[in-house]
Amino acid sequence: MMRMPRGGRVLLATCLGSLFVLVLYFQSITKPEPGVKTGSRPEINKRSPLSTPYNGDQQLELLAAHRSLQGRRELLEQACLTHTRKRRVLSPEDLKHLIVDDKHSLIYCYVPKVACTNWKRVLMVLTSDGRYTDPLSIPANEAHIAGNLRTLSEFSVPEINKRLRSYLKFIFVREPFERLVSAYRNKFTRSYNTAFHKRYGTKIIQRHRDNPEPRALREGNDVSFQEFVQYLVDPWTQREEPFNEHWERVHSLCHPCLIHYDVVGKYETLEPDAQAVLKLARVDGSLQFPTSGKSTRTDGNMAAHFFKHISPFYQKKLFNLYRMDFLLFNYSTPEYLRTR
Ligand SMILES: *[C@@H]1O[C@H](CO)[C@@H](O)[C@H](O)[C@H]1NC(C)=O
Repeated sequence: MMRMPRGGRVLLATCLGSLFVLVLYFQSITKPEPGVKTGSRPEINKRSPLSTPYNGDQQLELLAAHRSLQGRRELLEQACLTHTRKRRVLSPEDLKHLIVDDKHSLIYCYVPKVACTNWKRVLMVLTSDGRYTDPLSIPANEAHIAGNLRTLSEFSVPEINKRLRSYLKFIFVREPFERLVSAYRNKFTRSYNTAFHKRYGTKIIQRHRDNPEPRALREGNDVSFQEFVQYLVDPWTQREEPFNEHWERVHSLCHPCLIHYDVVGKYETLEPDAQAVLKLARVDGSLQFPTSGKSTRTDGNMAAHFFKHISPFYQKKLFNLYRMDFLLFNYSTPEYLRTR
């Protein structure tokens, strides 16, 4: 038998212990909860803005907002029960997208192309000890520097479990194909995104274009939406490596059937949902979620335009790929889709 050095044995024991704790935690949360009022996580009640005095109008508004957020959580839970068969166990690796704010007991799972830059800015303000006060004073690229914010994957398993049990956990989602088209436009049609062109564009053109020009092969800067779709539905793509986070499904980034988010915010109702989160988090009222000058909803119908040029065959494959995100977050099948 191989003799393990002492350090190795300790490490192995720690790993096994850690695994055990994660299994226990996720078993305990997979039981359906009866609702917000009862159940094992009373913290949402404790934080409910309804428990603090407000004037009548505000109270009614908050009540309506609270109901719709609760409805989304219940729908998500039901969809998880209906559509996921095997429960798998999460490892710290799966928690890289969960940003932690220990000061306000918050966990936010960031989804690219769903206002995540602004949420990261807000979390930087919240965790900065007063160094920042205005989210918009933080340059976008700084908000994305790994290490400026802590993620749940950096903690030990007991520390992870403690936070998952007691923090307010939230996520923001968006209509899956609007998000996908937004990612395509941002990463493949803007001339400045050379990193994406080189990393993904060249590969996509090489695999999915007949007789590509040498320049296109070299630059990767003119990928069509059709080629991008072919790349996504090609089984080889995901066998080779996981999707880039900009087009990875929320289901895979944030594990919404294993982590019970207290708030499921939507991009389509970003402002009220963001306000609701900040209220529930008991954040100082002077901090507002930044809403940029150009409305986020003006581009609400981009996908229909881009899907016109995609054949029914590929539309169907793509819908199957993103199906869970449609089902879990109550997005209906787009009317423009031709999937017969
Ligand atoms: C789900 O979507 C339907 C149709 O858009 C809507 O009427 C319903 O209120 C939504 N349910 C929840 C819980 O958000």
